[in-house]
Amino acid sequence: MKYQAIALLLSALSAAPAAAQIGNPRAPNPMDKAKATIVEDFAWRDPFTAKTTDSFDAACEVTGVFNAEQYTLHQLFDKHPLGLWSYSEALKDFFSEREYPGGFSGLDRHGWDRNVLLMHYDGVPVQVREWIEEQDRTESKHQGLFATFKKPKDKHTKVDARWVAPKDGVVDREEDKDKVILFAPGALYEILPLFVAESSDCKDALLDLSKYSPEPKDGAVVAWPINHTRPSVREKRRQIEITIKAQVLKQKEGGAEAADEGKDEL
Ligand SMILES: *[C@@H]1O[C@H](CO)[C@@H](O)[C@H](O)[C@H]1NC(C)=O
Repeated sequence: MKYQAIALLLSALSAAPAAAQIGNPRAPNPMDKAKATIVEDFAWRDPFTAKTTDSFDAACEVTGVFNAEQYTLHQLFDKHPLGLWSYSEALKDFFSEREYPGGFSGLDRHGWDRNVLLMHYDGVPVQVREWIEEQDRTESKHQGLFATFKKPKDKHTKVDARWVAPKDGVVDREEDKDKVILFAPGALYEILPLFVAESSDCKDALLDLSKYSPEPKDGAVVAWPINHTRPSVREKRRQIEITIKAQVLKQKEGGAEAADEGKDEL
């Protein structure tokens, strides 16, 4: 199912909540509990397996913990702090721009159960902010993976458009505290090393995304969100913590064979 389906579904719902599926017979029924699947083309998998450690040493390793808020599309109509109502109109456009990149591990729960994460912009490492702004400025294929918004003045106000960095690249970092980013968890996988680069002893390697690989390789950077907490629905809290780990790999003596053997099983 594509993002477009969500846009359809959203516009149908905001117009006529009770009659969402009238009209287009192909529009998904929001009441359906579709089976969770892995999104097409999800290239990432947990690299921190015994197979990797059999063949590679970590030349450098770093772990970082990041705060986020986790919502599902069910909560587009609830006001802060329960939901994303303030962003709902703007998100509609955002969601229609590209396919859903997946939840954690590329899982897609489809329809209303899809996850959306919110991070406060000033809580995101500046290298990540710069990357997001660069995608928005250029015709990158990663454009629109992350949507940046100015925070609404209060929970009863809607934001109407995404914030896009000025073309000249000059951004007042003082204003970052007044912004948030919204994205599907699957978007994280494209840039995990950027989150933890600053606090590592191998900043240059982690900032070089050409070294970042879904497959363990000699000299490659691998990364994964090794764990994340869940929102406490009972306490009506959306806050979660995500732990991201990255390594620069170094082939072990005699480790090449093990790496080759592993391939067939992937
Ligand atoms: C996540 O993993 C890190 C590193 O292994 C660990 O220190 C932390 O306690 C874990 N957090 C949760 C919530 O499991």
